Amino acid sequence: MEYITAGESHGPCLTAIVTGVPAGLPISEEHINSDLARRQAGYGRGGRMAIEKDTVRVTSGIRFGRTIGSPIALEVANRDWENWTDRMAAFGEAPRDLVREVTPRPGHADLVGALRTNTDDCRNILERASARETAARVAAAGVAREFLAALGVEVMSYVVSVGDAAMPEETMADAAEHKPLDIELSEMRCPDAKATIAMKKAIDRAKSDGESLGGTFRIVVCGLAPGLGTYATGADRLTSRLGAALFSIPAIKGVEFGLGFQAAARPGSLVHDPIVLADGEFRRASNNAGGLEGGMTTGMPLVITAAMKPIPTLMTPLETVNLDTLCVEEASKERSDVCAVPAAAVVAEGEVAFALANAYLEAFGDTCMADIKANIKAYKARLRTMGR
Ligand SMILES: Cc1cc2nc3c(=O)[nH]c(=O)nc-3n(C[C@H](O)[C@H](O)[C@H](O)COP(=O)(O)O)c2cc1C
Repeated sequence: MEYITAGESHGPCLTAIVTGVPAGLPISEEHINSDLARRQAGYGRGGRMAIEKDTVRVTSGIRFGRTIGSPIALEVANRDWENWTDRMAAFGEAPRDLVREVTPRPGHADLVGALRTNTDDCRNILERASARETAARVAAAGVAREFLAALGVEVMSYVVSVGDAAMPEETMADAAEHKPLDIELSEMRCPDAKATIAMKKAIDRAKSDGESLGGTFRIVVCGLAPGLGTYATGADRLTSRLGAALFSIPAIKGVEFGLGFQAAARPGSLVHDPIVLADGEFRRASNNAGGLEGGMTTGMPLVITAAMKPIPTLMTPLETVNLDTLCVEEASKERSDVCAVPAAAVVAEGEVAFALANAYLEAFGDTCMADIKANIKAYKARLRTMGR
C-alpha cells in the first residue's frame, strides 16, 4: 500500500492517491474526517486552522463504502485558496504587485530549496514544504487505519511534552493503558490533566515572546500479530520502515523505540524482556523493547516516542540574508503555529499505520480482505500449536 500526495499550501486543494489497497475493505468517510479534525486541533495552532475545516472528497476506488481494489483518490480542499487565486494561479502572468519571498526562514526549507531549484521566490518552496501537506497524508492514512482496524489493530498517540512541560515518566506498560477519550478531551492531546495545563502555559509564554515550541509524543499500537516485518534484510526490518516513515514528517528530529535512549544507560538484564508462556501464548514479562525485536513485532504493544523541533516561523524572527540585496534582514513571517506537537502526533499515527499495513500485506496477501483474514486466522492457529 503506497500513497503519493500533491498540492500546495495555498493551491485549490491537496490530493492523495493510495495504491495497493485490497478489495472488500470497509471505509468510513466519518472516520477520515474525524482524523482530519484531530490533525487540525491542539492548543497553539495558528490562524490558518481557523480558516480551514478539512473534509475528504473521495473520487475513486471506493464503492458503497468498500474498496474495490483500484487506486483510491482523495481530495482535501484549501478554503484559503480563494484569497490566493492570482498569486498561486497555475497559468497566466504573475500579478504586477506580487511580493516575492526573499527573506528565507532559518529552520525551514526556504533557503536551501531556493538554491537547489534556482528560484528567486522562496514561495515556490514553502508552498510545498509547508506542513499543510500533512492533511493529505492524514486522509490517505485513513485507508491504512481502516485496514488495521478491520484486523483488530488500534493506533493511538498522545503528547508527552511541550518545551519543558512534561507528563510524569511512565513505563511502556503504562503507555498502553491510556484511554483515547482522555487523550482527545485534552486540548494538548495529553492524557495527564496537570501536564496539559503546564503545556498550555508554556505555549502562552512562547506566544507572547514571539517564540515557538516543539516537544515529544508517543505512538501506541495494540492488537498486532507477532512476527510482522523481518530480521532478514536491513531495509525491510520493521524498525527501519517505521523510522523512515516517522522521519518523513516535517520537523521530526528523533525517534525512540520502547525505552529508546534510556536503554543505552542500563545493563542488559534491566532492558531485555523475559519470555513467558501464558495461556499457550509466548508473551513478555515487560515491554521495554516497545513491541519490536529483530526488526519484527513481538505481539506486545508497539510503543514509539518521537521528538519534534520548535516551529521555524517565529513572530520575533531570527536574522537572515535577503536574496535580492544580500543584506542582513529579519526572516519572513508567515501565519504560523506556535506549537503543533498534538497535530504531528496524528500525522505520525498515519505514517505508522501505513508501515504496519504493509507488513500485514506482505505476510498475509494483498488482494482481498477475505483471503487476508483467513491467512491471519491460520497463522494464529499455528502459533497456538507452538505454545502448547
Ligand atoms: C503538523 C505540523 C504543523 C506544522 N506547522 C508549522 C507552521 O505553522 N509553521 C512553520 O514554520 N512550520 C510548521 N511545521 C514545521 C515545518 O513544516 C518544518 O519544520 C519544515 O518543513 C522544515 O522541515 P524540517 O523541520 O524537517 O527540517 C509544522 C510541522 C508539522 C508536522
